[in-house]
Amino acid sequence: MNIGVLGCGNVGAALIQLVGDSSDEIEKRTGLRLEVTRVAVRSLSKERDVELPAKVFTTDASEVVNDPAVDLVVEVIGGIEPARQLVLDSLAAGKPVVTANKELIANHGTELFAASDDAGVDLLFEAAVAGGVPFIRPLRESLVGEDVSRVMGIVNGTTNYILTKMTEEGWTYAEALAEAQSLGYAERDPTADVEGFEAGAKAAIIATIAFGKKVVAGDVSHEGIADISATDIAFANRLGYQIKLLGIAEQFDDESIAVRVHPAMVPDQHPLASVRESFNAIFLEGEAVGELMFFGRGAGGFPTASAVLGDTVDAAANLAKATHASLGSFSKAKIRPIDDLHYRYYLNLEVRDRPGVLAAVANLFGKHEVSIHSMEQDPLVADGSQDAQDAGLARLIFITHEAKESDVRATLHELRGLEAVNSIGSVLRVIENPD
Ligand SMILES: NC(=O)c1ccc[n+]([C@@H]2O[C@H](COP(=O)([O-])OP(=O)(O)OC[C@H]3O[C@@H](n4cnc5c(N)ncnc54)[C@H](OP(=O)(O)O)[C@@H]3O)[C@@H](O)[C@H]2O)c1
Repeated sequence: MNIGVLGCGNVGAALIQLVGDSSDEIEKRTGLRLEVTRVAVRSLSKERDVELPAKVFTTDASEVVNDPAVDLVVEVIGGIEPARQLVLDSLAAGKPVVTANKELIANHGTELFAASDDAGVDLLFEAAVAGGVPFIRPLRESLVGEDVSRVMGIVNGTTNYILTKMTEEGWTYAEALAEAQSLGYAERDPTADVEGFEAGAKAAIIATIAFGKKVVAGDVSHEGIADISATDIAFANRLGYQIKLLGIAEQFDDESIAVRVHPAMVPDQHPLASVRESFNAIFLEGEAVGELMFFGRGAGGFPTASAVLGDTVDAAANLAKATHASLGSFSKAKIRPIDDLHYRYYLNLEVRDRPGVLAAVANLFGKHEVSIHSMEQDPLVADGSQDAQDAGLARLIFITHEAKESDVRATLHELRGLEAVNSIGSVLRVIENPD
């Protein structure tokens, strides 16, 4: 089985090494011998940590796709174009495709799944959701009959690393981000990670496969972690929570689907609370199976290449049997807007420390039917706001009962106009413990 690999960067180079190292074992187990025979790159002069003859490399990716000797194509270039066209061309030529490209699957998945069905060959993308953590295959195969109600994932290792360091080392957001950048976890422009776009693409893929409806990256509402402060972390910890950036895909009784990415307070006892550093985890709730969690390395060349290799062996085996795994057809999901969702909320307000302020604030909550579960006033909070106290300010931390997002937004809107409110810090949704 000759493999053409598009891209020889972090993932491509690791995959080529893994194929070389494990082809004997794979042959023993499956009867299939895998060999990388063509590789497309941007530059032929770069040094690469792979043992392949120079003639295998080309800068023309379509040469790999169109090479009659290539049976199966692995796309690890990234981005939308030319990756999308190369994948379509490969499928049209009857060559199964394995990709790690979350951006491509999240934005053009259904077009590509249909092309794979038309051609009768596989399009597999395990590595596009949680790197080395197998989730798509269990979801498609082991859980195929399961009525999945909600999937919550820590699917961005960079932001989980930043939040872990803020929690455990007391670093500020800026310090933790700088360290993540120096370790290579975060890009120089960290927007895609810290604003939740990357996790949003993954959440869209998860929703599509979990609920069998077309959800694209643009359907996902996001909030990032840049506004999380040391005060929020300290309060969350004191109240028995960890702050995590979650991608959440949920299906309701009317079959509408909500997909969003936002920081959330996760109770210490929840399995997701213990996921530290750059690890990923996906927590699934289903009608029959109850709760399941998948945990591991969400990024890095070798963990990701491990998932790509698993897909490659699967696709090769299916090709040999002239069959393919179909996802079926997808109708457009009915997206429930975030405004219609209900949560408990954590709100952090800085107010003038004088009589009557608490009553005025509480009055606005009541006006919008947001019921307060608990409130703490703390002038000397963890971020050392002695200056704020000297200026006659106090911090009020509220946890609400379950409330509608639009009501909470209306409350916040009016609170901003209140003279006694100096500033509004983080607004975080509070996740419940599993049953
Ligand atoms: N890295 C991870 O931890 C990780 C985890 C999960 C998923 N992924 C996904 O895996 C994919 C690859 O990621 P990566 O980290 O391996 O990226 P990368 O290190 O930037 O590698 C990209 C490779 O593609 C080649 N390339 C780019 N444009 C090309 C073109 N037009 N024609 C031919 N070759 C081209 C580059 O060539 P040169 O080497 O000559 O520049 C490079 O070898 C992405 O979709 C990414 O989202 C990565």
